Amino acid sequence: MFLRHSAGGVVQVERRGGPFGFDITVAHQVEHMIREGELDGIVETGSFVGDTLEYLGRRYPWLPVVGIEIDPDYAAVARRRTDDLANVEVRVGDSAELLADSLRVLRRPLVYLDAHWGEDWPLAAELGAINRGFIAVDDVDIADPRFGYDQYGDVRLDPDLLRVLRPDLEWYVGAPRADYPHPCLQVGRRTGTAYAAAGGVDPDVLAHTWFTRPWASQRLQGTAS
Ligand SMILES: C[S@@+](CC[C@H](N)C(=O)[O-])C[C@H]1O[C@@H](n2cnc3c(N)ncnc32)[C@H](O)[C@@H]1O
Repeated sequence: MFLRHSAGGVVQVERRGGPFGFDITVAHQVEHMIREGELDGIVETGSFVGDTLEYLGRRYPWLPVVGIEIDPDYAAVARRRTDDLANVEVRVGDSAELLADSLRVLRRPLVYLDAHWGEDWPLAAELGAINRGFIAVDDVDIADPRFGYDQYGDVRLDPDLLRVLRPDLEWYVGAPRADYPHPCLQVGRRTGTAYAAAGGVDPDVLAHTWFTRPWASQRLQGTAS
């Protein structure tokens, strides 16, 4: 599948796109955190061509929404798609370097971490840069064979890794089989999402049936994506 944009360029999108990969349960989890946590901004790392960024910018027009994308061509597409949205900014560069500065003016942000595919995995640096708001990490192994996850070499992105990188936080994973207002029609390529409250927000927002505590040292049954 290819996405054409009005500048005439062509970007290969594979078959992965869509806001939150078209997983509406993640959109509901995010909505819950933004509304119940009274959040004041959103930063997405790894914005790609802006599928999730555009959705967030249009759905939450009162919030500043910043996307950080390392590839200038992808960032240019994301910018073009959101250039009518005054609340959206696309920053080009390495999220490991730009995230702390992007969070500087926010007190209660949602930080959606989805930067990967490159040689370097910025996740540890990203997590080290966050000291407030809610964190959402995409592509996490939630021990469900229907859900994919990220893996760099032998290192699997799972709750145990998140606990090693940020042992001070209580980690949750999204509960995709809980009751949601809408069914998820995208069943073929879902991935897990993990969440934590990093300070300055009510951690009880995550005490909801849409979030669950992964057990320590969980048995892993998912498939690497
Ligand atoms: C899975 S895609 C993100 C999809 C996007 N979040 C969405 O929902 O549409 C991963 C993106 O992370 C970007 N990326 C990889 N390493 C990065 C880094 N260190 N800083 C910023 N972006 C990075 C890649 O170029 C790619 O566009």
